[in-house]
This record gives sequence, structure tokens and C-alpha cells, in this order.
Amino acid sequence: MNDRHSASMRPAVSETDAETIARDCYGIEAVARELGSNQDRNFLLREPDGTRSVLRIDNPTFGDDARDAQHAALDAYRAAGIPVPVVLAGPNGELTQRSGGGYAVRRSEFADGEPMLDAGYFAPVVLQEFGALAASSVNALATLAHPGLDREHMWVMAVAHREVGRCAPAIRDRALRHRVTAAADEARSVLDEVASGLPIQAIHGDLTDDNVMGVRGEDGRLHPRVVLDLGDLAYGWRVAELAITASSLLHHEPERPLRVFDAVEAFHSRAPLSDAEARALWPLIVLRGAILVASGWRQLEIDGDNAYARDRIRVEQAIFDAATSVPLAEAVEYATVRLRSADPLAVPDRLGADAPEPHPKRARSLPVRSLLPEIAGDVVVVDAGVESPWLEAGRWLDADAEDRLVARAFAGGSAVAVLPFGVYRLTRTTIDCPDAAATWPIGTELHVAPGPRLVVTTPVEATVFAAGEHGVRLRLGDGWYLDIDGFSVDVEVNSVLSPGTRLGLLPSASESRRLCVTLIRADAVEGASPPVDAVKEPDTGRSGLVTPERVPAWSALARDPAGLLGLPSQAERDQSADEQRRREQILAGAQERYYEHPMQIERGWRHHLVDTTGRAYLDLVNNVAGLGHGHPGVADAVDRQIRILNTNSRFLYRELAEYSERLLALLPPHSPLDTVVLVNSGSEAVDLALRLVQAATGRKTVVALREAYHGWTMASDAVTTSAYDNPYARDTRPEWIHVADVPNRFRGTYRGAAEDRSVGARYAADLGADLDKLARRGRPAAGFICESVLGNAGGVLLPEGYLADVYARVRAAGGLCIADEVQVGFGRTGAGFWGFERSAVMPDVIAIAKPMGNGFPIGGVITSRAAADALTSQGQFFSSTGGNPLSCRVGLAVLDAMEAEGTQRNAREIGRHLAAGFRALAERHGIIGPIHGEGLYLGVELVRDRDTLEPAAQEAAAICERLRELGVIVLTTSERSNVLKVKPPLCITAESADYAVAALDRVLTEGW
Ligand SMILES: Cc1ncc(COP(=O)(O)O)c(C=O)c1O
Repeated sequence: MNDRHSASMRPAVSETDAETIARDCYGIEAVARELGSNQDRNFLLREPDGTRSVLRIDNPTFGDDARDAQHAALDAYRAAGIPVPVVLAGPNGELTQRSGGGYAVRRSEFADGEPMLDAGYFAPVVLQEFGALAASSVNALATLAHPGLDREHMWVMAVAHREVGRCAPAIRDRALRHRVTAAADEARSVLDEVASGLPIQAIHGDLTDDNVMGVRGEDGRLHPRVVLDLGDLAYGWRVAELAITASSLLHHEPERPLRVFDAVEAFHSRAPLSDAEARALWPLIVLRGAILVASGWRQLEIDGDNAYARDRIRVEQAIFDAATSVPLAEAVEYATVRLRSADPLAVPDRLGADAPEPHPKRARSLPVRSLLPEIAGDVVVVDAGVESPWLEAGRWLDADAEDRLVARAFAGGSAVAVLPFGVYRLTRTTIDCPDAAATWPIGTELHVAPGPRLVVTTPVEATVFAAGEHGVRLRLGDGWYLDIDGFSVDVEVNSVLSPGTRLGLLPSASESRRLCVTLIRADAVEGASPPVDAVKEPDTGRSGLVTPERVPAWSALARDPAGLLGLPSQAERDQSADEQRRREQILAGAQERYYEHPMQIERGWRHHLVDTTGRAYLDLVNNVAGLGHGHPGVADAVDRQIRILNTNSRFLYRELAEYSERLLALLPPHSPLDTVVLVNSGSEAVDLALRLVQAATGRKTVVALREAYHGWTMASDAVTTSAYDNPYARDTRPEWIHVADVPNRFRGTYRGAAEDRSVGARYAADLGADLDKLARRGRPAAGFICESVLGNAGGVLLPEGYLADVYARVRAAGGLCIADEVQVGFGRTGAGFWGFERSAVMPDVIAIAKPMGNGFPIGGVITSRAAADALTSQGQFFSSTGGNPLSCRVGLAVLDAMEAEGTQRNAREIGRHLAAGFRALAERHGIIGPIHGEGLYLGVELVRDRDTLEPAAQEAAAICERLRELGVIVLTTSERSNVLKVKPPLCITAESADYAVAALDRVLTEGW
């Protein structure tokens, strides 16, 4: 049967009527509250005992057959394991009842969960789950056949274009009306090419974020689960199921519509799409957006009181806007490329099968002469890429960075400087931005040195398709155009040109001139609205650029013109996945790596890192690069020293003593420590510190705190008590380690306010009791080791008085005190240079490393001569590279720069600013618990409940993923992995700190 369930009034049933129907048809007393619907009526029924159910009054246009088909579909879903609410039969055993008014009525279980519609941001995993659900739906319904499925209602996508035409006059806003109909026309024309090849079957037809109930996961995200409302069930295009689902996901982050391909890919892996279906997908998404907007206005025209329809208009508009914000040709191409999962740049070092071959003679002659035959002099390809050696020391941030690269090439005598197609330009990278910048050029720019005018010729056989004031578009045949832009044209449209024919003149100039050559597929320009202009209209002679996520489509819509110009192709793509695979093949499984799908980082500058696509990230985790990435002073020191001398530390040279003296000079006044031993890492430093205290005391036992990390060598791992870092720590700990309670005043054994000295005293007393016990058992302590601020816990400050008390007890028991300053030393906490200074104590041995070399491997211990000399009892000591001239020079350069750049002051000031920002967020976001730390060692602890302090660990991990999307690298730490660790390079600015806080605010507000 065909029913035309087009826009029409909802049944005239009020909440009171619904209560009567519940009583008459189902024998229940219930209070009814209306739920939204466009054309039917839905009511929530609540019985006195709290039982909830949903009463649905079908629009009268809806037939019995269709209802029967729905019940069959529900059975099919259940059989496939897709959760759906059960339809509750009336007392007569029938699923469908008739109301007094003659309406068909059904009652269903109430589906527990939360609506997905208003859930804000959807993470990739949620998008994938939506795609998988749509695939499960079409798989479950694939063989369903029923006469009630043969419906042609307005939501069937095959009639969507017609329905847009019918409803669009209701759109009062003229410009919008035009946009909606134009987009629908264009989508239909693409769809028409493939429609006959689209498989048809029973589909839900409205499997949207509004018809799927979500359940909240451990990660705090809402995950799609229960499928509701089969009102649009009918035969339809299988791919329409996906298009409808995908379109409903668009408004959750409308600025990035291509993200819904996470859903598409998940669908495809479970219900593979044919090429025709892949091509149909985006046109269907656009049509769905158009019909939603048009019918929304139409619904209001005929049913102005429908508050639900009025509310929905905003969402529908957002869906349409997002769907049409990507040029249709681009989105269609993107779908094809992503689903083919082919390497988008694998083919075209050549131009590709469907692109013209370069003109053989000229292309193989000197570079660029096919276009500019009179050029005399060198042609140089300029490197504006992510790893360019010419953009060090942050030069890429200068607004005129590209011009400077070009000027450099000219100064070196080049006649033409080329900025090539497809090389991600670091010069276009932006910092502290939620969105990646457009970095990938779709054309090749030729910068021509100042000089006389030059003839411009066509490098290839072509017909002039368009000729403007500044450039031409040449038709090359086989659907490709060659755009040459930036010169005075003197050919006419439709002229047929052979290679070498003159196109016009590049005028003489006393400054550099630019030509841009773009080889572009015709449908990128003609078949799309907006056409190529969607790539932000560049200046004359400049290439358009696209963001990294658009590259898969654009590497098919545009090709590298290098071959036409006699240049080598340098086009790049994101190779992070290959790099990850490469690592996984050859590295140990235990070797840690950040992120499940990591970006490939190949550049750093100050407190930012840049990946190979030119996306910049604010780096909040790199305390090793204390001065900041790419520091020129350190680079110069390395360069200078390694050319002069780098030998092992058993030779006599000046640098070792010079650096060691500088280190000693950093100790607080009157420090008794006077001896330095240099090694290469924090683990080695801790290892050596442990050996020193054992050698000096002649004892073995070392007391370490619970939940600590101190390194990976045998000894430093032995005092690493964190079960998070080493789940086997408890069982494998050697007997010479004694583990004492961790003095965490927030969630430890004893808790209390910062100024409450009794907290520290109680922890210290417990540790004192441990020392006594050890002595009684004949295992007196050689020493005690702890971080001066609990870095591994996320920067938890030690309770007032604790460290002084403990040090006194350890010394009284004949032991020595080791301060692990590997993370928290070197000015990071802002107030002092050393972490132990905030406790007004002086350790016997200090272990140092990370920031000493700003990324160069240096570690060491500072101790007393007596302790150090004890080492002789264990034979000689040397570390081949520890303390070599190169490390010492680097160490000195770091200390010089720390002083000159005031890093400790910056840690204090920006740290205070950052902590204040986080504290302000805590007032608005309940998930934020204590803010730990000081200076630029901060920890934002996330909890599910501020009273119980239940750790929000999965949430924290998910929040880090979203922050990364927004361009902020922050990771979790602590035994419970629920603390966001914030320990950026000490050069971080207030602007970047503000960006970090704003990004976290956005994530906590919109979701993760
Ligand atoms: C407190 C502490 N000590 C020692 C180490 C070991 O340093 P490395 O990784 O340089 O061996 C670390 C490393 O994270 C650390 O955090």
C-alpha cells in the first residue's frame, strides 16, 4: 500500500485525552506528559508506582500494514541483538488499540537512558558507534519483506527532492529558500548519476540522534544504545539509512562536518558500501538537510503551535549548513577516497591515469621553461615545510616568512623560487587555535625574481576555457583544467593552443612577481557549489590552501603540476599511521607511547609542537624541554662543541669542572654539598644516588614512598613503587626496599588543610615507626628517597612540616636523605630553584636530570664528598658519556639561558595564572577536584564525586583526547590516572596558558 504521510497536523489528542486512552485501552491510571513529534503524538505515561511507558497516537495517514511491518522490524532488531523497547499489548492481547476518537494507539516500554540529541560534542568512538548501529540496522532488516514497507512518505529519500520543492515555499527567508532548493537540485543531479545502482531494502529511515537513547559510559560519554520510533520504516535506499544517521550527527560539531566519516567508516566495515553508494552518500546528506529545513518551515506553517517543530528548526538549520559547508564535489570525492581506503597520494607521482601527460620535450628540458621560456638562471624549490631548516628559531611564525624564503633564494642568485604543490607549509601553521590551519597548497607557486617582462607560454596542448585579467583557465581534455594565474593574458577564449604557445606577459618589475599553476579536475570547479572558491580565495599568483583533513579529497581533485613544469614532485601526505606501524614492528611492546592514534611530531618551537601536517599543539607535558623546544642557544652549544671535542669523561678537559661548579653554585647558601657526579639520565642518577647511600652507610635498606616513580634501571625500578607504572611492583620488589605511606593530604591516610601541620606530623610519625621497626629487625635504613613534590601523583605538595620531620628521623636513625629532583627541580616550581626548598630542608644526595640538557641526555647527583668518596669502596666509577664535554657545554648553555630568560620567574608567574584559571573552572565544573602543585608543575585532579573523590580516570583519558583535537597536548598521571598533568616548557606565555584553560573549559562544557 502507498500512503502519503506528508506534512500534516498531529492527531488532536491532549494530555488529558491521553490519560483517558491509557485508562480505556490499557486499564492503567497514569499521568500523561507530551513528548515531541512532528506529525504524531507521543506521551510519557507515569503510573502511581512510578512505572513509565510511552503512548503513541499515530497520524491517521499511517496504515495498519505499516504498523504490522513495524512490529516485524522490532522482532528483527531483537533477533539481531539491537535493543528496542517492547510494544505492550492491551488487555485484548492486541499490540494496536483504537482510541475513542478512532486513532490507532500503541504503548511501549519506556527506554531508560538519556537523549543523544542535546549531548553536545560526539567523540570519534561515539560517531563510530552510531555508524555501527546504522549498519546493524540495515543488516537486521536486510531480508525483511512486508507489504507495509511499501510506503512513499515524505521522508523516503527517493522523493526528498520533490518534497523539498513542495515544502520550500514555506521558508520565509528568501535567501535561505534559494540556498535550500539550489543545494537540493545539485545533490539530486549527482544522485541521479548513481541512483539506479543503489540497493533497496527495509530501513528504519530515521535512525537519528533523536531516535536513539544513549547510556552514559565509564568514560562519561553518552553512547548510542536503544533504537526508538520506527515511524518512518519503509523500503528505501540502504545507504539512506547511513545518510540520515550521519546527517543527524553533523550539528554536534558543525564546524567539522567531515568528522561524520568516522561513522561512515564504521558502517562501511560492517555493511560495505558500493562505489555508487559511496558517491550517493553526501548528496543524500545534503538532501536530508534540505528536507529537514523545508519541512520544518512547512510544519510551522500548518501547525504553528508545534513547539517541538519550532525547537527543532535550529538543529535542522545547523545540519543543513554543515552539510553544505563542504563543496559537494569535494565531499563526494572524500567519501570515495576514504572508503576506498587507498593511499591518496600513492598513484600520482605521475599525474594519474585520467590526467594529461606533461609535454614530453619541454618537461624534460630545464625546469619551468615550459611556462617561462625566457627564464635564465636557476630555479630553486623553496622549503617552507614542517622540517625546513630555514625556519628554525620560530621564523615560521613571522607573517612574512614565505617572502623571506623567496628573498633568500633570490639573494643566492636564483631566478625562480618555487613553493610546490602538496607540501604542508609550516609558514601557514597557527598556534593556540582550536582548528588546524590550511597548510596544504593545491597549486604550485612560482616566484620570479625582479627583472624585465617575460613571455608566459602554455606547457601543454589546451583550449582556452576562460581568460581573465590576471590569468587563464585552460581545458586540457579528459576533465582537467590548468589554471595559470598572475600575468597579463593576451589569448582569447576558445583558442586552441599547442605547447609553447604564448599566453601573455609577466610584466617587468623591480620586485618579485608570482605565478600560480593549479591542475584541477573539472568537477571541482563546475560540479560544486561553492566551487573551488571554497578554498579561501587566494591573492593573485598565490595558491589556495586546504586544511589537513581535506587533503584526501583534494589530492584527487587537484594534481601536482610538477611534471608539466619539469620539476620533481614533492607532494606529501600524513604518514603518521605508517610511522606507527613501522615502530610497532620493531619496538618492544612495553615501550610506552602517547595516544592510540598518535600524530607524527617533527618540529618543536618553545612550548609548541608541530606535526607533519603543520598542525601545532600547545605542549603542556614536556618538562624535559624546560627552556622550550628548538632552543637556539642549546643548538649552538651542541654545534660548536661537537665540532671541537667530545670525548669520554676520563680525559682531562675544562667543561666538566666548569659545569659542576655551576651546578654547585645553584644550591642554597651554606649547603654542605660540594661534589657532583654526572651521568646521562634520571634513572641513572637515582641508581647512583641509591648506591651512594648504601656505600656511605654500609647498610642496604632504602625507604621509598608508595605510588612513586623513580626510573627504569634495576635499582631505580626497585624504588618505583607505583602499581600504575609497574603493576608487578608489589610482587617483584626486592627485600632491601621498604615502602612507606604516601603523604597525600587530599586522599591519603591522613587528610587535612594545607596549613594543618598535624597531617604531615602524623605521616612522619608513621614513617618514624617504620624506621624503628626496620632497625629492630636488623635492617636499619641506609636512606630515604622521595620526590620533593610528588610529581608522579600530579604535583601533590608535601604536607607542611613533613619533609623536615622525616629527614630528621632518617638521620637520627643513621640514614641519608635523597631528594629526587628529576622532575621538580631547576626552577619548575617557581618559588625556589629546588623543590626541597619549599620544605626548608637540605638533602644529603640530590638526583637531577630531565631539564638539565633541555632534551639532551644529562643526569647527575650532587652530594657531599664523604658520601661520594664512599663509592671508592665499590671500585672505580665512570660513565662514558656522562659529563663529557658536549653534555657539559649543553648543560652550561641551559643554565645560561635559564638565567637570561628568567624561566623560574616565568614558572612562578604563569604558574600562578594557570592555577588561578583552573581554580576558576573548578567553580563551574564539578568534575574538577583538587588542583595540585606549584609554579609550572600542576595537576588538575578529576573526580566523579568531590566527597568520595572517586577518580574520573576514563573521563580524564577521554578529555585528553578531545584536548588534543583542540590543539593541546595534556596527559594523565597519578596512581589512579585521573590527574591532568600540566608541566609545560617554562617559557609558556600567558596567552598560551589562557588558551589551555579556555580549551579545557570548552571540553568540560561541550563534552568529550
Ligand atoms: C621523579 C623521576 N625520577 C626519575 C625519573 C627517571 O628519569 P629518566 O627517564 O631520565 O631515566 C623520572 C622519569 O620520569 C622521574 O619522573
